[in-house]
Amino acid sequence: MLEWRDTMSIDRGALDDDHHRLNELIRHFVALPGEEEQRPRAIALLERLRALAFRHFEQEERVQAAIRYPLLADHRSQHRRLVLLLDDIIAQVDERESAFAFGYAKEKADHLLPFWFLDHFTRGDLPLKTHLAKIPGLVCAPVR
Ligand SMILES: [Fe+2]
Ligand SMILES: [Fe+2]
Repeated sequence: MLEWRDTMSIDRGALDDDHHRLNELIRHFVALPGEEEQRPRAIALLERLRALAFRHFEQEERVQAAIRYPLLADHRSQHRRLVLLLDDIIAQVDERESAFAFGYAKEKADHLLPFWFLDHFTRGDLPLKTHLAKIPGLVCAPVR
């Protein structure tokens, strides 16, 4: 699991803050023991991750629209796919939905979630940094 580094900064503002929090929620999830009694805490963390991700994706798309980011349409599609994938991961970990034992479902999620965040972040979000850097004085106000 990745430690947050300064080179991961995109806007020195709300987007960075969200990325840092998304990464931290995943770290907390992965750190939970894979025992059945941990399932409610694991689900609660995943629900927080989902809520934050959903709000963050909207915010990031608003920023991209504001700067007329040329890759906005593709980026929006990626966000939609990430939400569906996260729903699927949550369903597997959730007792009511899952056909798997908690430990097995969590182990799968432990591997998928860091990739879920990092793959999109490095290939989709980081290129945005160059575009934002061309707009002096742009401040991304927090939505929360
Ligand atoms: Fe994104
Ligand atoms: Fe992002």
